[in-house]
Amino acid sequence: MASANRINQLSSHLSSNPHAAAMSSGDSAFTHVTQAPPDPILHLSHLHSEDTFEKRINVGVGAYRDENGKPWVLPVVRKAEKQLIQDPKFDHEYLPIDGLKPFYEASVRLILGKDSAAVKEKRYVGIQTISGSGAVRLGGAFLNRFRKAKIYVSNPTWGNHHDIFKDAELEVHTYPYWDPKTRGLALEDMLKSLKDAPNGSIIVLHPCAHNPTGVDPTPEQWRQIAAVLKEKSHFPFFDCAYQGFATGDLDRDASAVRYFVEQGFELLVCQSYSKNLGLYGERAGCLTVVLKSASVVPQVRSQLVRLQRAAISSPPAFGARVASLILNDETMFREWTEQLKIMSGRIQTMRKLLHDALIELKTPGTWNHITDQIGMFCYTGLSVKQVGVMKEKYHVYLTDNGRISVAGLNQSNVRTFAEALDWVVRNVN
Ligand code: LMR
Repeated sequence: MASANRINQLSSHLSSNPHAAAMSSGDSAFTHVTQAPPDPILHLSHLHSEDTFEKRINVGVGAYRDENGKPWVLPVVRKAEKQLIQDPKFDHEYLPIDGLKPFYEASVRLILGKDSAAVKEKRYVGIQTISGSGAVRLGGAFLNRFRKAKIYVSNPTWGNHHDIFKDAELEVHTYPYWDPKTRGLALEDMLKSLKDAPNGSIIVLHPCAHNPTGVDPTPEQWRQIAAVLKEKSHFPFFDCAYQGFATGDLDRDASAVRYFVEQGFELLVCQSYSKNLGLYGERAGCLTVVLKSASVVPQVRSQLVRLQRAAISSPPAFGARVASLILNDETMFREWTEQLKIMSGRIQTMRKLLHDALIELKTPGTWNHITDQIGMFCYTGLSVKQVGVMKEKYHVYLTDNGRISVAGLNQSNVRTFAEALDWVVRNVN
């Protein structure tokens, strides 16, 4: 009865409201708008949360989960939050357009290293962004305006790279990265494609924990990549969303970026604190531009500030304040590095358990890549069809490209996951 009343009220509202009447007669200004596809990654979390099957498994989104499958607020983040909120000076004022200075300055040191020549010679610009995605978008907009060129992303890459760069009006191309035969890096093809790209192209690189493949170049392979980029005057654009997640060591995971800086490149590097500090929803990130000369710093900074003001006005404060406390306090920083090791260590344990379960089940195929790959993701090699069956028959949510977020596995569900994978590999081509 109550719902019948609501429907009556709604119809009388529609008949007295001219905009609503236009809606019902179908002559909206937006009738030409076609349905956009759901996001291939974030939509999985929605499907998983709607699923009522008790043993459903979400290995879709790249977000850390603890042993109980729950989000983990790092103890050091809790500590910093408390300190922040108890500070009588804490308020909700706007940050400057380029963000919180102690935060972005510490972020630059975190990725480049405090002893970096670029840092010592002050030939960089750091600016706070809406996490890694915001940094990628701002970097894309900056390059579009001041160093326009074709942009090359790895095939495959994080799907959003394509949309972000297209929306930044850059012409997006790909270079080979994944070799399905070896389930490793397609180095020769990658180098050839980079050599074939027009001189001065922009090359997007994942410095560690490549998303989605979990395959990173070795130091020697990075040297070869850098040599080609130099020979071709390409511009490196690093997207670093997983510093500390690949090896558990913040410095080691930054070594590719640092190597390129040592080689004298001008480059862009994007950082995210979503994964390594678990600040997903707080959107804390940084874009750093490394320059050849400190003399261009003021101009570059001013243009980034202008682009940021027009896009978002100023970045969000809370996450950056939390991160800043941790980055700038010796004790909290040490606690963070220990907690990072807990996360990366648990992921490595899950890789091993999954690998061992598949070996025990005698699942057809080779599974070494599960433990060889690094970071949050494992690129299983499952086909779209097999992924579909994983979803429908086993309530296991992974992306269509066969990527799993290993952090979604734990002691209680890894066996179930392995059995589902085993069945699909044996029964679905
Ligand atoms: C992922 O790749 O799963 C994460 O980076 C989350 C996202 O925004 O796509």
